[in-house]
Amino acid sequence: MKYAKEISRRRTFAIISHPDAGKTTLTEKFLLFGGAIQTAGAVKSNKIKKHATSDFMEIERQRGISVATSVMTFEYKNFLINLLDTPGHKDFAEDTYRTLTAVDSVVLVVDSVNGVEEQTRRLMEVCRMRNTPVIVFINKMDRDGKNRFDLLEEIEKELKIQLHPMTWPINNGKDFKGVYNLDAKSLLLFTANTKATEEDSFIIENLNEKILDEKIGEKDAETLREDVELIDGVYGKLKTEDYLAGKTAPVFFGSAINNFGVKELLDTFIKIAPEPQDRETTKRVVDVDEDKLSGFVFKIHANLDPRHRDRIAFIRICSGRFERNTYYHHVRLNKDFRFSNPYSFLARSKDIIEDAYPGDVVGLFDTGNFKIGDTLTEGEDFYFTGIPSFSPEIFKELVNKDPMKTKQLEKGIAQLTDEGVAQLFTQFGGNKKIIGCVGELQFEVIQYRLLHEYGAACEFRVLPFYKACWLTSNDEKKLDDFLRFKQQNSARDKDEHPVYLAQSEWFLNTEITNNPDIQFQFTSEIHK
Ligand code: G4P
Repeated sequence: MKYAKEISRRRTFAIISHPDAGKTTLTEKFLLFGGAIQTAGAVKSNKIKKHATSDFMEIERQRGISVATSVMTFEYKNFLINLLDTPGHKDFAEDTYRTLTAVDSVVLVVDSVNGVEEQTRRLMEVCRMRNTPVIVFINKMDRDGKNRFDLLEEIEKELKIQLHPMTWPINNGKDFKGVYNLDAKSLLLFTANTKATEEDSFIIENLNEKILDEKIGEKDAETLREDVELIDGVYGKLKTEDYLAGKTAPVFFGSAINNFGVKELLDTFIKIAPEPQDRETTKRVVDVDEDKLSGFVFKIHANLDPRHRDRIAFIRICSGRFERNTYYHHVRLNKDFRFSNPYSFLARSKDIIEDAYPGDVVGLFDTGNFKIGDTLTEGEDFYFTGIPSFSPEIFKELVNKDPMKTKQLEKGIAQLTDEGVAQLFTQFGGNKKIIGCVGELQFEVIQYRLLHEYGAACEFRVLPFYKACWLTSNDEKKLDDFLRFKQQNSARDKDEHPVYLAQSEWFLNTEITNNPDIQFQFTSEIHK
């Protein structure tokens, strides 16, 4: 319990959204509140612009910049908040999914005009898998968006989560007047401003008071009264335990660009969001307040810039205290390492940290010793569970263009897949190497890196698969027969787990129906 005080003041979370919903803007407003930046616009330059899709070097360059803001730490009302950045570009979705394994909760931004979008749906699936507590921020209320009730219904239905409005909007678009805080019973009037870091709200305990009509006009006051009565009846009071269990998501309405509704969100966040929790491992549950250090790698960032060929492994601390220049046990390699320059994302001024606590993220300069899911301890052997791999969406055969460089190619592809750039499958009963990625961009990245870092030339041949399913069965013979019979569609992943590569949903469903003794899984855990 040595570090209880440090642990209880930490909140580690991510903001997630479909590109353009307002993640960067909201991040920036949080940082302004935390005093971590002084002016609006400071975070913007780190954003991977959605338009630069075809030029991966440009995207990598921007990703390089964004390493510095991969974890943004700020203090707010004595809480130490670690905000983990997730790439907005959809081709880096795997990165985002893995980052979600390192946070204790998320804030999901939904655009009030566009409602639930593709990327939101998928990110939410990951949260649901892990029962991650979610707070929803419905953004852009200053624009003519969807009806507020329709929006709630859409989000509940599409994201399969129960919502609980914490604030309630008075109109939207040019008629947007503000929000009523259902919990604090306070009215917050909308002012379009981008500077203020304080919001003025005033308490209206009883909505029947005349002051409401004076503030927002009779017509809107009447609508608000009706809305609030309806909402109170349907939702009642938020049960924090349901939020913490990932069953109910509190909802806020606001406008990030106008810095409106952000403080309300942040104040509730520090009140209800979970501090770092105990975590499951392959051996036992690790208590967050154990004295001994443990942590795992959830992301590896390799810099493509030849002048800065550094690689940073991101470690989430799960228990104990991380100290600079102290030997820790790298479980997979069964070797002890110490780190003289652990990189802090904390810093406005200094880069090197002396120590870190559960919930913190430390960047370790790495020369190829780490892969995603690796664990550091003080000697004990275990891995953290619940770090999933998802099915890639594009599959291509890796073709060696220079037989003299086979070894380099194999080493390169092994290392790149360790970093989580792509997934590698080997065709069953053969040697064909199949690379699976979420986006086309990664193939360009792989080809470039294999050539420039390993001297191996390759090309890709498109394969007609759309999904990989990991197979398990209690009946080994049936599984073996299936793999052999479906050789064209069978492969093994890097850890030798059998995988079925489906050409289409129809094929997949047919195989699932025809093979009731085999389980088809859409995700695979790195450690079970
Ligand atoms: P993202 O990180 O989720 O991709 O979104 P980002 O914050 O970059 O916001 C996307 C666009 O939406 C930006 O405009 C931003 O200014 C705008 N935006 C964010 N919050 C609000 C809001 O509350 N109301 C309105 N009306 N707009 C909002 P952009 O034109 O794409 O970029 P920029 O030129 O402003 O940088």
